[in-house]
Amino acid sequence: MKRIAVLTSGGDAPGMNSAIRAVVRKALYEGIEVYGINYGYAGLVAGDFKKLTRQDVGDIIQKGGTSLYSARYPQFATEEGQLKGIEELKKFGIEGLVAIGGDGTYRGAHALTQHGYPCVCIPGTIDNDIAGTDYTVGFDTAINTVLDSLDKIRDTATSHVRTFVIEVMGRDAGDIALWTGIASGAEQIIIPEVDFDITKIAEKIRQGREHGKKHTIIVLAEGVMGGNEFAEKLDAIDNFHVRVTVLGHVQRGGSPSARDRVLASRFGAAAVDLLKEDKGGLALGIKNEAIVSNPIEDVLDKLETTSNLALYQLNQEISF
Ligand code: F6P
Repeated sequence: MKRIAVLTSGGDAPGMNSAIRAVVRKALYEGIEVYGINYGYAGLVAGDFKKLTRQDVGDIIQKGGTSLYSARYPQFATEEGQLKGIEELKKFGIEGLVAIGGDGTYRGAHALTQHGYPCVCIPGTIDNDIAGTDYTVGFDTAINTVLDSLDKIRDTATSHVRTFVIEVMGRDAGDIALWTGIASGAEQIIIPEVDFDITKIAEKIRQGREHGKKHTIIVLAEGVMGGNEFAEKLDAIDNFHVRVTVLGHVQRGGSPSARDRVLASRFGAAAVDLLKEDKGGLALGIKNEAIVSNPIEDVLDKLETTSNLALYQLNQEISF
């Protein structure tokens, strides 16, 4: 291939810029031209393309968000949208596409693949919910952002001997809650992958207080229910005066961690390597520290908790 394109789509994630930079720099190193597509699949259909130079991707490795902008674009589920996208790519003489994002991005790339257009996907989402990879770009930064807040909440929780419910993102996956719960020493982690018993949790809070615990931190994954709803259920059992913090989109921003920058750089270069060999229809991943690729269709619809549930059990054993 002599000309490829790159886009970011769906929820942004720290490290997307590092991946864009790697795609562009590696492609130019290999003598391949690169076009950036603005606003994900919406920009693809609209023909919102720009040729990227080495300098265009300078000074972005450390920046959060995505310099190509992003969008949620459900219209790309239609065949009409997909064919229009391919038409635009061909108009620019672009022979392959690197799509950076999560589940929705993969679906779009899969559709293009089914129409015979070569795509390579890079997992970029804070949720860490993509099958075929141990980690997604953005997850490490997001959990460190959450951790910073959890440590701060613990200070005030201890001072007032309070119970806090902290709702974190993750869509239908519990990885963000699981990792930050363990890292912050939370008393309880609630994730969609494991059932919970509210009366047992209430009992644990009471026991903790009897044993002199000054705070109770409950990290709740948004995929289970909202923080306020959960707090109401707890307060209905006993008058804990639960305080709720919904961390929200702060979890998606910020400068990517070293780990996310390195991961994104490796993925970006690997995507170019595949397209250079005319290989498409593939999703990149990292497994046991090695870069791997799988057919996109193999990773779709397989919600994967990359953090094994042994971590959940670990927290049950050491948190009280
Ligand atoms: O997929 C990333 C994510 O931040 C999820 O954790 C969250 O459920 C969702 O996106 C929020 O989407 P939006 O920014 O469209 O509200």
